Amino acid sequence: MLVGSEVVAVLEFFSPVALVPDQTLLDVMANIGTQLGRVVERDRIAAELRRVDVLKSEFIANAAHELRTPLTSLLGFADLAAARGDELGEEVLKQVMDGLGRQADRIRGLIENLLDLSQIQQGRLTVRLLPTALGDAVRRALDAAPPPEGRSVTVELDDDAKGVADLQRLDQIIVNLLTNAYRYGGPSIKIEATAAAQSCSLVIFDDGEGVPDEVRTRIFEPFARGWNTSGAPGSGLGLAICRRLVEAFGGSIDYEPAEPHGARFIVSLKRA
Ligand SMILES: Nc1ncnc2c1ncn2[C@@H]1O[C@H](COP(=O)(O)OP(=O)(O)O)[C@@H](O)[C@H]1O
Ligand SMILES: [Mg+2]
Repeated sequence: MLVGSEVVAVLEFFSPVALVPDQTLLDVMANIGTQLGRVVERDRIAAELRRVDVLKSEFIANAAHELRTPLTSLLGFADLAAARGDELGEEVLKQVMDGLGRQADRIRGLIENLLDLSQIQQGRLTVRLLPTALGDAVRRALDAAPPPEGRSVTVELDDDAKGVADLQRLDQIIVNLLTNAYRYGGPSIKIEATAAAQSCSLVIFDDGEGVPDEVRTRIFEPFARGWNTSGAPGSGLGLAICRRLVEAFGGSIDYEPAEPHGARFIVSLKRA
């Protein structure tokens, strides 16, 4: 059964007596095939729409849940400041205000991520693809997100490594990968930028435990987080956004465990 030129199912006709079908019979069989093909195809599309609908509902539920967590803390801090602000003393009041700011920041970050993702998914993301020096991008990302205490970053940057990318979005990707390494990785992080004939790549690896097996295949999907995130802020959108951005550059991003242990993220871009 054909829909357009695609075979969607096979329909067999049997006859108890051997016969060579004449043209009319062949036409009837072809006609039945086409009509049944349409039914099969309609059913397939309906199932696909139902699946997308379920994914969307899950996405909305996840997003709402992720927003509610920092919002609840924020309201707690605000209530405390309103009810007992006078008696708290300057020091404690400052901590409460800091907490308020931190939670508001988390909410803003989450909303920015959600907006990015929805723009990408609607195909409305505009990227300005230009030759971009990977080394410069790494240096800018390290300025924006320097290693916290207890983490150190070494870099090995080939200055010939120039890729096709959107400058700001590439910075965002590197900051995301760096922040993940700070949060979930080990004490030593390394970034390499290398150039090959047709492509160039950026590898960020750390000597932590690596991505837990149970989320390994899903880390580039929205909201996927491993058990190793305990307490760390985040909502599982970072890598999903990274992958979609890199793909918008015509490149790819992959994960593989580092040797002997740790995480290794590889961003490959077209060479500029
Ligand atoms: N360097 C890393 N080491 C170990 N696990 C990691 C690393 N980077 C990412 N992960 C895992 O992948 C998950 C998804 O990452 P991400 O999409 O950035 O979301 P988030 O950081 O908000 O949790 C993390 O929750 C974590 O479990
Ligand atoms: Mg992250």
